[in-house]
Amino acid sequence: MLAIERLSKTYADGTVALSGVTLGVRPSEIVALIGGSGCGKTTLLRLLAGLDEATDGAILLDGTRITEPHPSVGIVFQEPRLLPWLTVAQNVSFGLGRRGPEARDRVAHALEKVGLAEHGGRWPKDLSGGQQQRVAIARAFVTEPKLLLLDEPFSALDAFTRASLHEHLLGLWAEKRPMVVLVTHDVPEAVALADRAFVMRPRPGRIDDEIALTLARPRGRSSPAFENATRQLYASLDRSLKAPDKAGSRGAEPTALWW
Ligand SMILES: Nc1ncnc2c1ncn2[C@@H]1O[C@H](COP(=O)(O)OP(=O)(O)OP(=O)(O)O)[C@@H](O)[C@H]1O
Ligand SMILES: [Mg+2]
Repeated sequence: MLAIERLSKTYADGTVALSGVTLGVRPSEIVALIGGSGCGKTTLLRLLAGLDEATDGAILLDGTRITEPHPSVGIVFQEPRLLPWLTVAQNVSFGLGRRGPEARDRVAHALEKVGLAEHGGRWPKDLSGGQQQRVAIARAFVTEPKLLLLDEPFSALDAFTRASLHEHLLGLWAEKRPMVVLVTHDVPEAVALADRAFVMRPRPGRIDDEIALTLARPRGRSSPAFENATRQLYASLDRSLKAPDKAGSRGAEPTALWW
């Protein structure tokens, strides 16, 4: 499992991006981090990926302390970040870092799972934004990570493409069932994908609320259970935006409607 213990991050300019964040992710659990701008979501993800160092506290993945990039941790960013001089299949196998028939089969399988079986020989520039992000997801899954980190991977896409990518993501997740930490601004997205949502609050960045999302899968968006969970999560977010911060000044106005 993943254990995040009293994690704090203060940047060189004195910004306290995270303060005393403690949370655990259970085996195969999908967890969403949601919250207003600047509450430390990306900072937390970068620490989990070993791309930056915490000021205090610890991250333990199956008992191993994460302080630098780890082969068992995969990441998908907001933009696909494909290598333009490699084909689609080469981009996916780049994540795998080895060659041979077994590697080729795994790349082909991952591309098939994201609906791009016929596109392995194409160049990234010839794909749509949604297709490129599907390649990035295949590249992250092909290494069979124990922990997959997603930093708003669907936010640049239209609602229809986004919903179809959710299906592709869940299809790949179901095979090896890694732990997933998903950063999102999108409440229905968190409800569609996550087992638990953590609502964060800024100044300093911290966990403000935890909401269990125990709906059965697959999750139809028009079901009453989906609507209830969505309403509950919006309400928690509104509370986190309205509440005064620790320094005593008021938080951002909820009317900012940043989501
Ligand atoms: N390299 C940095 N140096 C100094 N301050 C930083 C740095 N990176 C982030 N911050 C600050 O740390 C806080 C948290 O930033 P972070 O990017 O983690 O927030 P976020 O929750 O991902 O926001 P958003 O939803 O806008 O992406 C913010 O106040 C931000 O300005
Ligand atoms: Mg961010």
